[in-house]
Amino acid sequence: MPKFSASIKSKLPKVGTTIFSKMSALAATEKALNLSQGFPDFDCSPALTSLGTKAMNSGMNQYAPMPGLISLREQIAQKTEELYTGVYHPETEITITAGATQAIFTAILATVAENDEVVIFTPAYDCYEPAIDLVGAKAIHIELQGPEYRIDWEQVKKVISQRTRMIIINTPHNPTGTIMSAQDMQKLEKLLHNTDILVLSDEVYEHIIFDGYDHQSVARFPKLAERSFIVSSFGKTYHTTGWKIGYCLAPAELMKEFRKAHQYNVFSVHTPSQQAYSEYLATSNDHLELKEFYQHKRDLFRDSIKSSRFQLGETAGSYFQLLDYSKISEEDDITFAERLTKEFKIASIPTSVFYSRKVDEKVLRFCFAKKDETLLQAAEIINSI
Ligand SMILES: Cc1ncc(COP(=O)(O)O)c(C=O)c1O
Repeated sequence: MPKFSASIKSKLPKVGTTIFSKMSALAATEKALNLSQGFPDFDCSPALTSLGTKAMNSGMNQYAPMPGLISLREQIAQKTEELYTGVYHPETEITITAGATQAIFTAILATVAENDEVVIFTPAYDCYEPAIDLVGAKAIHIELQGPEYRIDWEQVKKVISQRTRMIIINTPHNPTGTIMSAQDMQKLEKLLHNTDILVLSDEVYEHIIFDGYDHQSVARFPKLAERSFIVSSFGKTYHTTGWKIGYCLAPAELMKEFRKAHQYNVFSVHTPSQQAYSEYLATSNDHLELKEFYQHKRDLFRDSIKSSRFQLGETAGSYFQLLDYSKISEEDDITFAERLTKEFKIASIPTSVFYSRKVDEKVLRFCFAKKDETLLQAAEIINSI
């Protein structure tokens, strides 16, 4: 291959290969148990894959309509109203995307301009900031303090100004496993009253919430919903992260702008998967059973490591467990995570990567979307550290 000799002015100079790819690759070469990246080590329902292959075999192999199959959008509208009372019109207010990632990128691309400010709470899922950087806007970070990682709304009030275009929230939260309460949502709603600030609400773990708590979707709060994009992911709900299908909900005026960008950065997404989900959603209640399914895994994992030398963070939602290793080692979290992968054969994610200024709280994130046997094996290793 000839060498590219002109100079490249990177638009994302801070970005390298994500830690998720790095840790998964290290886990593979070290033959370590991989609790790093957030995906299940078990398969999705065979009924869902049959519907996918049925769709392909019956010729559903051409472009879907730009906003997605209407049958799937109708299912989403019905589910959203049943669970959260929010009414979204399938024709104008729901778009199917290539995972939540594309929905997040597109919402930012379509509505945030150069020099605007976007408030994000760190630790934060890693795709928010590059999207903000790419549109030439500025991320304003509010650091959440462990072990509770709660939002201090007074602090938020202090950072918002005429320049603030958007606030990104994420509940249940990756990587901390915290959830936002109805009071949090009401405070946000009050804070944004009489402003032009938009909200991007990342709710990909909406169905993975424990101990009897209800997910406080923005869709439950009409005054907040009228300025918000809500994104979710079928990958997380149906154990199909590789299908990369998600969706975005927003009031028609916002969705109109979203679709202007969507039609040119992807146009439409994988038709057979959309058809499979739409038929599956019509008959399955899997999303309602997910709480119990994952609460069992969370409890199994936590119970089996409770006498280890790690300190366990609370996990109210999502499929992540934070473990504080400050009583075990003074190494920085990246070094420690790499050492655990190489020496103890267990891979995790160091949480410093979820901050912009690499805050090292000596905390690792473990994903418990794994078979029970994997979790027990992981526990045995963790107890030996
Ligand atoms: C908080 C959060 N948002 C968005 C995503 C991306 O979801 P998708 O795989 O549907 O693009 C993830 C995936 O890990 C996530 O954890």
